[in-house]
Amino acid sequence: MIKFEKVSALIERNNLDALLIMSPYNRRYLSEFTGSSGAVIITKDSRYLISDFRYKAQGAAEARHFDFVLQTKGLLDSVMEFLQEKNIKTLGFEGEHVNFNTYDQLKKEFELVPLSGEIEKIRMYKTPEEVELIRKACGIADEAYDHILKYIRPGMSELEVQNELESYMRKLGASGSSFDMIVASGYRGALPHGSASGKIIESGEMVTLDFGAYYKGYASDITRTFGVGSVSDEMEKIYSIVLDAQTSSVGEIKTGMTGQAADKIARDIITEAGFGENFGHSLGHGLGLEVHEMPSISKRSENILEKGMVITVEPGIYLDDIGGVRIEDDCLVTELGLEKLSRSSKELFII
Ligand code: GLY
Ligand code: MN
Ligand code: MN
Repeated sequence: MIKFEKVSALIERNNLDALLIMSPYNRRYLSEFTGSSGAVIITKDSRYLISDFRYKAQGAAEARHFDFVLQTKGLLDSVMEFLQEKNIKTLGFEGEHVNFNTYDQLKKEFELVPLSGEIEKIRMYKTPEEVELIRKACGIADEAYDHILKYIRPGMSELEVQNELESYMRKLGASGSSFDMIVASGYRGALPHGSASGKIIESGEMVTLDFGAYYKGYASDITRTFGVGSVSDEMEKIYSIVLDAQTSSVGEIKTGMTGQAADKIARDIITEAGFGENFGHSLGHGLGLEVHEMPSISKRSENILEKGMVITVEPGIYLDDIGGVRIEDDCLVTELGLEKLSRSSKELFII
C-alpha cells in the first residue's frame, strides 16, 4: 500500500528504529482501527497496534495489516515496554500531538525524533476508495439539503433546523454530523461560524447552512445560503458576488497551484467588488478523516495542490448586523482541474 511505502521512506529518511503514532486520526488512517484508544508502532519491517482488552477482537479485525498487541498496563507503559523488548533506540513521534508528560516519559528511554505533520502530509493524497467515501458523505449532505429546503418554514428556530438536518443525514446512513453545524439566519449570517441558536427564522431573511456528514469515518462539509420569502437587493448582490467567486475558483483551480494562488482567485473577485474586508477567512482546506486537514488554501499557504487531494472551496461575504453569504463545495483535485463531489444547486433559492 502506498501509505506504508511512504511511512517506510519516512522511517528511512529519519534513521528511525520505529515510529510511534498515538493521535486518533493518524492512528485510524494508518491502521484502520476505529477504537478510541491505542498506539500504532511501525518499524522497518513490522507494524503493530497496541490496545486494551475492550478492543482485542475489533483491533485485530480492523487493523488487518498490523499485529495486534494486547495492552497489559497503562497505554504508555505498555508501549514503552514493547519498544524496549524490540530493542528500539531511535523513535519518531508526532511532535504536534504528543503532550509534555508523554514526551517526558519517552525521552528517558529513547532517542526521540519529532516529526510534525508527516502523516498529515501523506493523508492529503486520497486513494480512490477514500474519495468514494467522501463522495458518499457529500451525497448524504446534498440529499439532506434537498430535504431541509422543503422542511424549513419561517417561524422555526435554527435549532429545529439543525436537529432535522442531522437526523435526516443519519437516516441516510451517516454516523453523524462531521462538525457542529452552522445554522445562521438573518443578522446571524454575519457570524461565519454561528452555530444554530434558538433564534426564529423570519421571512425576508437569508439562512446560511454549513454542515456535513460523517460516512464510514470520512467527512463532507458543504455550505449553502438561501432566502426565506424574499431577499433584499443588498443580499442578492452579495450572493451573486460570492457565487461568482466560488464558481470561478472551482473552474480555475488547477493542479500545481499553491494554496495562495487558489485563494487569490476568489479574493480578487470579492475585493474588486468592494467587499475584500468582508471576506476574512481562507478560501478552503483539505477534507478527509478530519473536516479540516491539509492542504490549506489561504492567503499564506504554500501548499501545492495536487491530484488526489480533496479540498473545500468556500468564499463568503459577511456584513456586520446585516447578514452573510457563504457557498462551499467539496472538490477532488484531478489532472483536469477540480471535480465537484458536492452537487447541490447554487442558484439563489428562495423558499
Ligand atoms: N464548517 C467549517 C468550515 O467550513 O470550514
Ligand atoms: Mn463548512
Ligand atoms: Mn469548510
